[in-house]
Amino acid sequence: MRKKVIAGNWKMNMLPDAAIRFIDGLTPVVKDSQNEVILCVPYTDLFYSLLAAQNTNIKIGAQNLHWEEFGAYTGEVSAPMLKSIGVQYVIIGHSERRQYFKESDDIVNKKLKMAHLHDIKPIVCVGETLNEREEGKAVEVITNQIEKALEGLSKEQVLKTIVAYEPIWAIGTGKTATADDANSAIKSIREKIGMLYGADVAEEVIILYGGSVKPTNAKELFSMSDIDGGLIGGASLKLEEFENIINYNK
Ligand code: 13P
Repeated sequence: MRKKVIAGNWKMNMLPDAAIRFIDGLTPVVKDSQNEVILCVPYTDLFYSLLAAQNTNIKIGAQNLHWEEFGAYTGEVSAPMLKSIGVQYVIIGHSERRQYFKESDDIVNKKLKMAHLHDIKPIVCVGETLNEREEGKAVEVITNQIEKALEGLSKEQVLKTIVAYEPIWAIGTGKTATADDANSAIKSIREKIGMLYGADVAEEVIILYGGSVKPTNAKELFSMSDIDGGLIGGASLKLEEFENIINYNK
């Protein structure tokens, strides 16, 4: 039985004081939660957030890392750096990074390997553009992305990887994939993982949906057979909305 994972992606939002207030507010809400709750915060919030989330049910993640451990990469942050302060999760290959920072499938793959090398759980994102969907290529695009992202990983590493299916046309647009469309895209990712790593891995790997998840659609999405929770952008910035998403089945 796969557990549900609700992850917030704050993107480039939230100053440290707001981050601490948010985590303090969320702490009692998730005290007895059976769901795994993760907040992926900006680098400048990490340390404060980790302190605020100590002894709570909230896990803290970063939104990116570099594919090398150390070196002359001005402005970059590495896996050992994240690990040294206690970061447990990292988003890799978000479509905004693929689009604005030209992250290729090869870079995404290198970053995944680096995260695993330092025992940081990656949340790897895949998703098609609106054009690709309209041309009937969505499944081909996302299964290719997943194959390239996971290339060279062991079964154990794939099992420790969280996948997020985020159709690009649904991110920040208010347009959500229908629960059936999201579920069938996620099923095709699961099938691909089954072909590459075996049915047992496919059955266990956690796959989230992301793209305009809100309190009003969370229950329908997260109740689908293959959707194991969500990666939430805008609605993870508002405590009440994020709480209602976490408590989607109450
Ligand atoms: P929104 O929930 O704002 O659409 O963002 C989704 C996302 O990109 C999460 O990584």
